[in-house]
Amino acid sequence: MIKLLVLNGPNLNLLGLREPKLYGTRSYDELCAMIRAHAERRGIAVEIVQTNHEGVMVDRIQEARGVFDGIVLNPAAYTHTSVALRDCLLAVGIPTVEVHLTDPASREPFRAVSYVRDACLATICGHGFDGYPEAMDLLLHTLTKC
Ligand code: DQA
Repeated sequence: MIKLLVLNGPNLNLLGLREPKLYGTRSYDELCAMIRAHAERRGIAVEIVQTNHEGVMVDRIQEARGVFDGIVLNPAAYTHTSVALRDCLLAVGIPTVEVHLTDPASREPFRAVSYVRDACLATICGHGFDGYPEAMDLLLHTLTKC
């Protein structure tokens, strides 16, 4: 069975409360329920982790080696700052899809840069919650085609 880690960064636990005009009114728990339902539909195992701490994200990616087949990663604000996350993804080499609920490139200029983008298979931006099942399907397709 394919095992995916869904790793969400800072402030995503506040979905539903944070800037609802940008992120919508559905909660983080609703996002997790949607991800779990999709995993069940596809017959894959999923673990969902949210942390506000960059080092914990690095630890979880390192620990994913040999445990998870792929990662769905929304690094949130660390997207635009974290060389450590980028280095970690390049070190472990686990197929990873970067997801953002919004389209960061159409927001403030400082969001245009993603340090993780070219360490990932693909980036899905601006599809809201749907970006997560799309990323899971992309990984499933990539992991089962070889
Ligand atoms: C985000 C976009 C980031 O720029 C922002 O810092 C977030 C969420 C998104 O999902 O749209 O926290 O990753």
